[in-house]
Amino acid sequence: MIGLLTRLFARGEPALSEASARDAAAIARLHAASFQRGWSDGEFERLLLEQNVVAHRITIGRTLAGFILSRLAAGEAEILSVAVTRARRGRGLAGTLLMRHLGRLAGLGVEAVFLEVDEDNMPARRLYLRAGFREVGRRPGYYQQDGSNATALVLRRDLA
Ligand SMILES: CC(C)(COP(=O)(O)OP(=O)(O)OC[C@H]1O[C@@H](n2cnc3c(N)ncnc32)[C@H](O)[C@@H]1OP(=O)(O)O)[C@@H](O)C(=O)NCCC(=O)NCCS
Repeated sequence: MIGLLTRLFARGEPALSEASARDAAAIARLHAASFQRGWSDGEFERLLLEQNVVAHRITIGRTLAGFILSRLAAGEAEILSVAVTRARRGRGLAGTLLMRHLGRLAGLGVEAVFLEVDEDNMPARRLYLRAGFREVGRRPGYYQQDGSNATALVLRRDLA
């Protein structure tokens, strides 16, 4: 019976909510599966406990399907990370997460949002383009420590 209920919920609709330090381990797992260099559970826990960090998650049943987090400072925010679990990509989950996240940042008085994205990362670039970000800078060789020579694009979106 419990197994049946778990399977039913696992097939449920994606639910979007704020993330908290209790999500640190699941977020660290998804992050490690999505990026060359993972961040530890402890690093995410510390980030999620910071007063100036805003984070959202998408869950399907009890499973984390995506997250996004930003750090705020002086009326600006930097998106530190966003990822969607591989099996759920290409269905608009990141777009939904990002738009909800930007709405929350605007509500907190953030006027401009920045982020860095690998210029070769087309899914992420399309995601940000569609959300109204524009390129404001380039950092050649930014990802060298990940064994890549790719350029980071610095993107900005004004909210005010
Ligand atoms: C980037 C990422 C979060 C997008 O998540 P997602 O839920 O698949 O995104 P969406 O379904 O909302 O789609 C976003 C855009 O990417 C496009 N896209 C999705 N998969 C793609 C692919 N394999 N190649 C090219 N574009 C792709 C979609 O078509 C969409 O663009 P459109 O609106 O112009 O059609 C996801 O690919 C991911 O977790 N990647 C690994 C982590 C990462 O790179 N994070 C970003 C760091 S800056």
